[in-house]
Amino acid sequence: MKRIKKAVFPVGGLGTRFLPATKAIPKEMLPVVDRPLIQYGVEEARDSGIEEFIFVTGRNKTAIEDQFDTNFELQHTLASRGKTDALATLEQLRLEPGAVSYVRQMEPLGLGHAVWCARNLVGDEPFAVLLADDLILGDRPALAEMIDVYDQRGGNVIAVMDVATEHTSRYGIVDPGSDDGRVVQVNNLVEKPAPGDAPSTIAVVGRYVLQSEVFAFLSEKREGAGGEIQLTDALARLDSPFHGIRVSGTRFDCGTKAGFLEANLAYALARDDMRSEVFEALERLGISATFVQPEAS
Ligand code: UTP
Repeated sequence: MKRIKKAVFPVGGLGTRFLPATKAIPKEMLPVVDRPLIQYGVEEARDSGIEEFIFVTGRNKTAIEDQFDTNFELQHTLASRGKTDALATLEQLRLEPGAVSYVRQMEPLGLGHAVWCARNLVGDEPFAVLLADDLILGDRPALAEMIDVYDQRGGNVIAVMDVATEHTSRYGIVDPGSDDGRVVQVNNLVEKPAPGDAPSTIAVVGRYVLQSEVFAFLSEKREGAGGEIQLTDALARLDSPFHGIRVSGTRFDCGTKAGFLEANLAYALARDDMRSEVFEALERLGISATFVQPEAS
């Protein structure tokens, strides 16, 4: 079985739900505590064994390229001022020269189209896709858990979670086969079904391990929900073994304002250097809170 070495990061969307913040800054560069969203995704991929990082970008996204490049002037200034901690923070995510590539989507026609734009860089091998606006806070990188399932069962693997019945229309929903409570067989997928039409309440989260055969389906460029070329519609046509895994971490939807704020709180409270300050701030706002570390489920 081929090892998963490449990861695709679709970052070509418009981020309309965060306007005006995303007028000049990519959504994926919005910070959760002190790191841009995209950096969490890249660190998760690197910590899961990924060696090649492919970004599908668009207009106004050059800040993402700068984020993963060396900033000689900044490093030189920090070094000359003895700011070793700040320098170490920058060093923490140094990617190998040549390990990062960028391709332009040109038109934001949907997530499926963005993934298809990476086809020549991915080639004929299995690959991962990570959506930067889905943050997963846990002890183990979510993608690493998915790659474990891929190593055992092969085929395609997606991250899933159980959602409330009234929320099925926000997600791609799994039509499940056998289900052991952690790993579920995927018979089919439906994009954003109304609760009455949903085959289950098992929703797709923004992490995928895919076989390259998906590109053939994406190349048909069929429009799906919302008039966009949906990744879910192409996944629904895949033949090879297909499983979903309920990853152990807690997922935050940073594509919405409330989810983004919740992620900021959870990530800050999970950090020893921030927790007490955040509690004090909450108290000043009249919020009495007891923090329970998000648990592995
Ligand atoms: P979203 O569905 O959240 O869309 O994309 P969006 O454009 O980023 O945000 P809104 O809905 O307008 O607020 C999920 C991920 O897929 C990428 C986005 O950049 C984001 O990381 N994406 C989406 C693309 O790369 N290209 C697209 O055409 C659409």
